[in-house]
Amino acid sequence: MTVSRRSFLTTVGAGSVGALALPAISWRGRENLFAQGVGQAPASRKADRLLAASPGMIRIDSNENPNGPGEHVFAAIRNHLTESNRYPVKSEDDLTSIIAKKHNIVQDNVIIGCGSGELLRASVQGFTSSSQGLVVPEPTFESAGAFAKFIGVPVVSRPVDATLHTDLDSLVDAARAAKPGLIYFCNPNNPTATVHSHADVVSFIDKVNKASPNTTILVDEAYHEYVDDPKYGTVIPLAMSNPRVVVARTFSKVFGMAGLRVGYAVAQPATLAKMTPWLLGSNVSQLSLIAAAATVGNEAHIAAEQKRNRETREFTRKYFEKAGFKVPECQANFMMLDIHRDAKAFKAECIKHKVAVGRQFPALPTYARVSIGTMAEMKKAVEVFTATLA
Ligand SMILES: Cc1ncc(COP(=O)(O)O)c(C=O)c1O
Repeated sequence: MTVSRRSFLTTVGAGSVGALALPAISWRGRENLFAQGVGQAPASRKADRLLAASPGMIRIDSNENPNGPGEHVFAAIRNHLTESNRYPVKSEDDLTSIIAKKHNIVQDNVIIGCGSGELLRASVQGFTSSSQGLVVPEPTFESAGAFAKFIGVPVVSRPVDATLHTDLDSLVDAARAAKPGLIYFCNPNNPTATVHSHADVVSFIDKVNKASPNTTILVDEAYHEYVDDPKYGTVIPLAMSNPRVVVARTFSKVFGMAGLRVGYAVAQPATLAKMTPWLLGSNVSQLSLIAAAATVGNEAHIAAEQKRNRETREFTRKYFEKAGFKVPECQANFMMLDIHRDAKAFKAECIKHKVAVGRQFPALPTYARVSIGTMAEMKKAVEVFTATLA
């Protein structure tokens, strides 16, 4: 089992689930957690990801940054290798301090996670229970929903609209009806790559606060740096004044550090205090903390990555449009488009030609999610798409 009986009982003890539900939830939840996507058996999901990671594969399946973190990060790691024997207390303090400075907030407003994935889980544990569930759009990044099911928390999902945008009014309605502990709102959304303006998000949060005052809204800004829409804006400042808002960020995307596993959450200290008991002490390694600290404030590097992504995304968009496909708004390092055929079969065919694209999302079975690789990778990938979609 991934979660030991002991840690599960700790969860029960903290009031997250009813003890009587333990046996059924352990098994059902285990499947949910590992599958990370409905309709795919755990073993095949793992096999899928291993296949994508095999030598020679163009890996445009997981929204990673193909360029990696950059020489400045490698140099920082090399320079601190000798500190590997120490627990990373000082590095944790350094990183939260740098992040706080970047956002013009204080250190008490920041917590660090083993990827933002750990913080998404901690939010589910900290803000939901068997009677105060989770509300999510569908489709969205499944981690929070899958984990909630795993620990027996009820999950209500609401479909995206016809333009693939998260239906904010529908989430407000769900909040009014279900009085959930948490709403997970990903902006821009994965896998749809659509974004909501700052004004819309502020108004959405206000409506949720009124409809269900005890509901916390977790705004996942994993793809923040890739947004071009001038109406978009982070809600980190709002999280400073509103105790019901948490913002999650990651080093896995624009910073190119998915393998180093660092993320952070920003909120008022009392709000974060509900999440921290669920985190492992010293949850991020010494070298990962040092890597993150070396890059988070490097605006020139961020700008270079944004430019590269924008150009390659545009190349890929033009390819699909020329090939007769409509590409919806894409404000991230991936795009989601209707290929008018089974996305699972498309993926399998591309894999045969050494191109790994995103997996099928059950809510949108004919849509393919294509991450943006390097320009060289995308030039090869579109040749495979041409052959496969012919
Ligand atoms: C929207 C979103 N949030 C969070 C994550 C998790 O990222 P991390 O690597 O920081 O755990 C991902 C990963 O793809 C994601 O797409």
